[in-house]
Amino acid sequence: MVCHETTGKYKKFPAGAGNPVSKPTVFKGNKKTYNPPDWNKTAQSVSRPNRKNCGTCHFYGGGGDGVKHGDLDSSLVKPDKHLDVHMGIDGQDFDCTRCHSTTLHNIAGRVYTTPAAEERKSLIEDDLTPKITCVSCHSDVPHKVNAKANDHTDKVACQACHIPKFARVNPTKVRWDWSTAGKKKGGKPFVIKDKFGKNAYDTKKGDMTWEKNVKPEYLWYNGSLTHLTLKDTIDPTGSVMINPPVGNQNDPNSRIFPFKVHTAKQPYDKVNKTLVAPHLFPKGKTDKSAYWKKFDWNNAIKFGQDYIGLPYSGEFDFVETSYVFPITHMVAPKENVVRCQECHKSEGSRLAKLSGFYMPGRDQFSILDTIGWIVIALSFLGIIFHALGRIVIGIRSNSKED
Ligand code: HEC
Ligand code: HEC
Ligand code: HEC
Ligand code: HEC
Ligand code: HEC
Repeated sequence: MVCHETTGKYKKFPAGAGNPVSKPTVFKGNKKTYNPPDWNKTAQSVSRPNRKNCGTCHFYGGGGDGVKHGDLDSSLVKPDKHLDVHMGIDGQDFDCTRCHSTTLHNIAGRVYTTPAAEERKSLIEDDLTPKITCVSCHSDVPHKVNAKANDHTDKVACQACHIPKFARVNPTKVRWDWSTAGKKKGGKPFVIKDKFGKNAYDTKKGDMTWEKNVKPEYLWYNGSLTHLTLKDTIDPTGSVMINPPVGNQNDPNSRIFPFKVHTAKQPYDKVNKTLVAPHLFPKGKTDKSAYWKKFDWNNAIKFGQDYIGLPYSGEFDFVETSYVFPITHMVAPKENVVRCQECHKSEGSRLAKLSGFYMPGRDQFSILDTIGWIVIALSFLGIIFHALGRIVIGIRSNSKED
């Protein structure tokens, strides 16, 4: 139903484990009343999935609009082409499934069918290739003949140049500090809103930062992400990367790819040096260990770790972490492409944090630069001599004809 109904009135109950309600029910969390669906109308409205269907889950991951992905939020239900050249209703008006084509309900995507850069066929060559990478439709030389951009596509992902900023209409959550959770005002939990009307502080969750028009960070990426598990030992002295992308400059399947980096401060076991899974959501009225009931981290962590059968030493603290999300949607019109100088400059380059390879303009590698200039000067001289030669020969042959 959630994938195929189009009335827009089919709503699940937030704490219903994926089920709608059978009678009108108020959800305490947002004080809204949830009604049972009109099953007949819902069933009769079944159609191919539109952006709203897919977005019911993918725009709200993490419990709210734009919490997780910075390039997938409710602004894509009816975007203009300025926000997304493909999905813009005043442009191509693509549904998600135009690119995420399916075979027997297997949705072409990052991990399911085709990895990021491996399948570099174009639809012209083979119309049956899942239309999933940009290259599947545009080929890897999408620009005018001799355009410098074409020389980049073996190292720089299309998205790196074509998505200058994400979260361009709705804000996205970029930081979550759990260590400040649990504060109360007059003995009661409270919420503070930010300039976007999003929660900047919530007793249940701590401090949160939301941003709009965010510049991505750039990392080498071959389409796979590694994931830290609750059994892995961490080094709490620095920031812990939870899902570092796999890839490097020497791997032909890797590209410099744009990411949203979400940072956090979250609880960990000080003795075992592992991240932990605290029990947050109260299960019924008698549940005293849930963090959102008593705001006691120690009990919540103990209960959570016991529940999943993992050790907990009894001592916790908070550690700085980061989590990355690849950025692929919200392709901007070509006028707004990332300019050459935004990468190729010595101060404040978008790629300032990536090192180990040479980029003209960004890096001062004087021998190479000097050779470069000599080559340019020589070619220029060559052209002049060539032209002079032609003029001389031209004059001669003209005079012969006379
Ligand atoms: C009921 C919620 C729900 C709906 C509706 C839904 N998805 Fe998903 N989708 C998920 C979940 C959950 C995952 C992650 C599954 C996993 O990791 O195994 C996922 C995974 C994906 C992935 C792979 C992501 C990756 O990291 O590789 C793609 C692509 C995708 N969905 C696209 C779509 C499209 C297109 C639609 C609409 C036709 C859609 N989804 C509808 C819940 C949903
Ligand atoms: C213009 C083509 C296009 C359209 C339209 C499109 N996608 Fe994607 N999507 C992609 C590409 C390309 C990737 C990246 C695949 C890869 O990394 O290999 C992707 C990746 C994803 C992922 C995985 C994200 C991740 O973290 O890696 C999800 C989920 C997803 N899309 C959902 C959607 C949903 C929902 C819609 C509709 C609102 C949609 N897409 C519309 C091209 C598209
Ligand atoms: C180094 C940056 C860069 C990379 C990487 C890049 N592009 Fe471009 N792209 C540009 C620029 C700059 C333009 C604008 C050219 C113009 O206005 O004539 C452009 C224009 C386009 C256009 C419009 C074409 C036209 O002539 O009107 C398409 C389509 C396109 N790019 C697709 C892609 C795809 C697909 C990829 C990945 C295979 C890609 N680009 C990689 C910089 C880049
Ligand atoms: C299902 C096929 C398909 C996929 C996949 C696809 N595109 Fe496109 N793209 C199109 C079509 C169709 C157009 C509009 C016609 C045109 O301008 O060539 C377009 C237009 C564009 C333009 C030109 C926008 C302008 O201002 O004129 C850019 C840039 C672009 N795409 C980049 C990308 C990038 C980056 C990706 C991957 C994230 C991608 N495309 C994936 C089909 C696709
Ligand atoms: C997203 C960042 C980015 C943008 C935007 C970008 N470049 Fe690059 N450029 C790179 C990287 C990374 C390399 C080195 C890897 C390689 O050789 O492809 C590079 C290499 C080059 C090189 C030396 C290698 C070669 O292919 O000749 C030239 C020249 C160059 N870029 C010119 C341009 C021009 C002109 C533009 C604007 C149309 C541009 N770049 C836009 C990232 C970028």
